[in-house]
Amino acid sequence: MSRLKIAVLFGGRSNEHDISCISAAHVVRCIPKDKYEVLTIGITKKGHWFKYIGDTELIASGEWEKQPDNVPCILSPDPIHKGFIAFERNGSTSNLKVDCVFPVLHGRNGEDGTVQGLLELAGLPYVGCDLISSANCMDKDMTHTILEANGIKTSKWVRILRSELDERLEEKCDEMEAKLRYPMFVKPCNCGSSVGISKVRDRAELEAGIKLAFVHDRKVIVEEGIVGREVECAVMGNLEPFASDVGEILPSNEFYDYDAKYNDSGSLTVIPAKISDRDREALRTTAVRAFKALGCEGLSRIDFFLLEDGSVILNEINTMPGHTPISMYPMLMQDHGISCEEQEDRLIKLALDRAGVDYE
Ligand SMILES: Nc1ncnc2c1ncn2[C@@H]1O[C@H](COP(=O)(O)OP(=O)(O)O)[C@@H](O)[C@H]1O
Ligand SMILES: [Mg+2]
Repeated sequence: MSRLKIAVLFGGRSNEHDISCISAAHVVRCIPKDKYEVLTIGITKKGHWFKYIGDTELIASGEWEKQPDNVPCILSPDPIHKGFIAFERNGSTSNLKVDCVFPVLHGRNGEDGTVQGLLELAGLPYVGCDLISSANCMDKDMTHTILEANGIKTSKWVRILRSELDERLEEKCDEMEAKLRYPMFVKPCNCGSSVGISKVRDRAELEAGIKLAFVHDRKVIVEEGIVGREVECAVMGNLEPFASDVGEILPSNEFYDYDAKYNDSGSLTVIPAKISDRDREALRTTAVRAFKALGCEGLSRIDFFLLEDGSVILNEINTMPGHTPISMYPMLMQDHGISCEEQEDRLIKLALDRAGVDYE
């Protein structure tokens, strides 16, 4: 049987562009080439799409963008094209048909339902969560609301909209102080990578934190600070998902901010986390419940706080978690006995299964 053609999308108009490139290089390396042929499509920080045919290592380094062979290439929303239209150098166009798309995009304009919506229009199978679950997991206010409705604990929170910033800031801060204890965490609702997040200890910091978060978003949430260990679980599957063991993050900074995530090798990940079997099972069970409650499919990484008394508080769900060689998701799945090659193979098959494609 001929190999299936998989398009890997990477980069993107997001503050997690660089991480996406490193993740995508890892995914491209791991996709089993005896079964699949890979087409790489890079999206610049400005949102321009290109067909890239060069070395995989240049994807990770960001140098892919400067390659002379790149040609502009768009995803056609018309299912008749079954893929991409490339604008070749000689002025002609070509139709690049694919069997499945792997959007290795993190954050806005990629992990938030936007690209998933385009892929739905295009009628193409794609890896990972669909439009609505991606959007709901991206928006921290929606995630909290849906989890609460399903009896899954999150931190207490208050939402504030940009339209409330000028006239109602005092009133909203009073509401936050009545409902939440300091320290609080102020977050843009749809960002990622800890961008725009601050830990605040008093009213002045709260107001400043809210104004900063609004630089990044139209909606902001303020959460009560949780004192607990940061633990994460990888989930894979469609209707019958399973959870990996639990991993722990030991941030090098006061919280797991942008610096601790990407600039500082002092942050450690521990797999499996040194926790009791009871806590482990509580986390794994809650991870699967949350995955189902949010309508996730394919994969997600579910991040928690584990409190000293064993309570489990869900922090967030990442529907396209980091896939770099040292990222928690691939490492947790490897620990579960699934090699990186098999992970990508399974994720592609889950995408084809959902779309009802017969690939055997
Ligand atoms: N309610 C909270 N209590 C304590 N720490 C928090 C809380 N919310 C966030 N943090 C810290 O901030 C980090 C980033 O917050 P998170 O909600 O995961 O945002 P992002 O989507 O940017 O990863 C977390 O990993 C954690 O270290
Ligand atoms: Mg996080």
